[in-house]
Amino acid sequence: MSRTDAVELLTTADYAAGARARLEPAVWDFLEGGAGGERTLAANLRAFEETRLRPRVLSGLARHDTEVTVLGRTWALPLGVAPLAYHTLAHPEGEVATARAAGAAGVPLVVSTFAGRTFEDIAAAATGPVWLQVYCFRDRDTTRRLIERAARAGFEALVLTVDAPRLGRRLRDLRNGFRLPPGVEPANLTGTGYDSPMRHALAAFDPELAWPVIEWLRSVSPLPLLVKGVLGAPDARRALAAGVDGIVVSNHGGRQLDGVPATLEVLPEITAEVAGACPVLLDGGVRRGVDVLAALALGGDAVLLGRPVLHGLAVAGERGVSRILDIVADELTEAMALTGTASPAAASPELVRPPGPIPIPVTPPPALRPPDGGGLRMEDLHSSLADPLLDTMNFLNEITQRYPEAVSFAPGRPYDGFFDNETIFPHIHRYLDHLETSGATREQLRAALYQYGPTSGQIRDLIADSLRKDEGMDVPPESIVVTVGAQEAMLLAVRALIAGPQDALLVSSPCYVGITGAARLLDVVPTPVEEAEDGFRCADLAAAVAAERARGRRPRAFYVVPDHSNPTGATMPLHTRRELLDLAEREDILILEDSPYRLVSPGERLPTLKALDRRRRVVHLGSFSKTLFPGARVGFAIADQPVRGGGLLADELAKIKSMVTVNTSSLSQAVVAGMLLSAGGRAADLAGEAAAHYGASMRVMLKCLRECFSDELGIRWNEPSGGFFLTLRVPFVADAAALKRSAEEFGVIWTPMSYFYPQGGGTHSIRLSISYLTHDQIAEGAARLARFAKAQIPT
Ligand code: FNR
Repeated sequence: MSRTDAVELLTTADYAAGARARLEPAVWDFLEGGAGGERTLAANLRAFEETRLRPRVLSGLARHDTEVTVLGRTWALPLGVAPLAYHTLAHPEGEVATARAAGAAGVPLVVSTFAGRTFEDIAAAATGPVWLQVYCFRDRDTTRRLIERAARAGFEALVLTVDAPRLGRRLRDLRNGFRLPPGVEPANLTGTGYDSPMRHALAAFDPELAWPVIEWLRSVSPLPLLVKGVLGAPDARRALAAGVDGIVVSNHGGRQLDGVPATLEVLPEITAEVAGACPVLLDGGVRRGVDVLAALALGGDAVLLGRPVLHGLAVAGERGVSRILDIVADELTEAMALTGTASPAAASPELVRPPGPIPIPVTPPPALRPPDGGGLRMEDLHSSLADPLLDTMNFLNEITQRYPEAVSFAPGRPYDGFFDNETIFPHIHRYLDHLETSGATREQLRAALYQYGPTSGQIRDLIADSLRKDEGMDVPPESIVVTVGAQEAMLLAVRALIAGPQDALLVSSPCYVGITGAARLLDVVPTPVEEAEDGFRCADLAAAVAAERARGRRPRAFYVVPDHSNPTGATMPLHTRRELLDLAEREDILILEDSPYRLVSPGERLPTLKALDRRRRVVHLGSFSKTLFPGARVGFAIADQPVRGGGLLADELAKIKSMVTVNTSSLSQAVVAGMLLSAGGRAADLAGEAAAHYGASMRVMLKCLRECFSDELGIRWNEPSGGFFLTLRVPFVADAAALKRSAEEFGVIWTPMSYFYPQGGGTHSIRLSISYLTHDQIAEGAARLARFAKAQIPT
């Protein structure tokens, strides 16, 4: 750089112009288009330009401290160098020059998977922290070796780029016929088969990357792990749940979508979601000191600089990068002085918006005004509503109606041949008689049916009595909350136990969608504990608990259906139940036991977890939907855990219920109570006929499967002794498209097991429900299923 350059180039924009003048047009286009395309870049720049910082005068601050601590290391500035492929395109020294400049400025350098210089050379030149940006290749071994090599060289953290599953079609590069010039190559990929990224990367990145990759990276390397490319609170939540150590808000994958939100726009929702649980960095469009301060004010911990670094490098190598960093540092200090900001931590949202409450606009904001055709926009509603998970229940109920001619193994509805309208009324009378003989006045009798009832329920004593008689569960009525089905009990339990993003709800996976859906409504992302082929294993739960703790999270509860599980049909053996209770005690977690199929299953029953629970580790979620009738919508939670400084957990659940359903229908409770009274409190006696029916249905199902499915089809299934469900493992992908074929062409409906996996899986399994069908329908359905399956398997 000449003396004149140093004087003339005063801003990063000057360096951009300088670089453009020096570089081949095709190279310039490549570097400019390297992140998200023009629209994304323009949105990022505009978001910063439109952000105004409020000056604060006479702040009395003599000095302004720019240091920040990120992942245990102190940086001189809240600033680092973003991962950028091929610094060698801008300057022959490439990343080595950048590493020297970053080290001199006391800031970190994130080195791209597609770096033009070797990790070893870069690490040798660096005096500040060096991190590795990771693209996950289809061939995981290559990725693992890359990480190990960087770790050996002294790299301190990993940044997994998640917003670019493909490199994307770079139009300008295609038009320019751009090829990497000789000498510019991915220096750390030689010999891997990925060493010509311009051609190979599209096919080479793992296209099925999902959140479990975080766990895989953890198994490969102990280095702290950040994800780069998060653009909204839901993904930030998922990232936290997956256990990342940091988040980079970035949109360089925006090209394929032809523009995505500016990173600064989404920063506030992400920092609010993360709430300090891990560092949040931002890149995209940072060009000036005020941009850095704006990002800090909106909750970011630091920013990364991308293109300006390459511009500095192109103009003057290491000195050019140093100048870029100095310019931004000087501007930042100046902006801090003018806004009276003593340190990065002192930057708060008031810097970028007026203090006090956000003014309420007189006219409705445009998003809520009905657009031309009227109606609301989905993106303005809670994000769970766009999650297919919330449609699962409706799907299961509705698909049967969509194909009326088909035999449906989908819905877990009770068989309705047992119900008789006339029997409802005597049950109500029986309950009223019971109250009367217990001394209730006329007013009390009237209120028992017509009034709002107590929030915790009015038949708790009768429920406690039946639990003692049927299940050997000896719990005081005060520990019971009567709920609107077990579903409400789940919602109450999750709301009460999960205090914030640091708390983990673990679920056995595949998992009943009622709990994952309730969690989703509450912005809780459950942590799945994969079941083995023969069901749940304590060792897997212990490992998941340990992994959550290692990520700084607090495992709170584990949800499981121990008997004839929905969806798989598996039953937990007695020794596992005892082991699970010990584990819960050891790890200080609660178990949410949901067991609705016990009394409608034939044969001996293993004790419930709650019956075995001596240390109040189990919150039992109960339901009368299967034993008595589903239309009552009467369920309950047993929550006998004392709450320090309060009563029982049940009292807290009741508090929440008072703001959800207020109380469970008095009329429904009256019918349920009358039914229990009619059987001397034994629900098991009332459910005897149903248990025999479902048991026979399951036997018919298993017999038909044995008859219809020859061995060579390679189809396997489990053989539950009761419950409503069983699992069929098939050698083809059992997804929604397969289900549609099955319903339309073969007249048989089932549920893809993948619907029950919170984070992917179960692609080759089917859930079959036998509860709703007659034995003849089961036989016909099994024959149709066999015809469908045969047609899916190439001969
Ligand atoms: C990038 N970026 C990038 N990101 C990544 O994770 N791995 C990579 O290899 C690259 N390579 C790359 C090359 C070039 C030429 C550019 C311009 C960008 C994206 C980069 O890390 C950052 O997200 C963007 O550059 C946004 O920041 P700026 O450039 O607006 O400051």
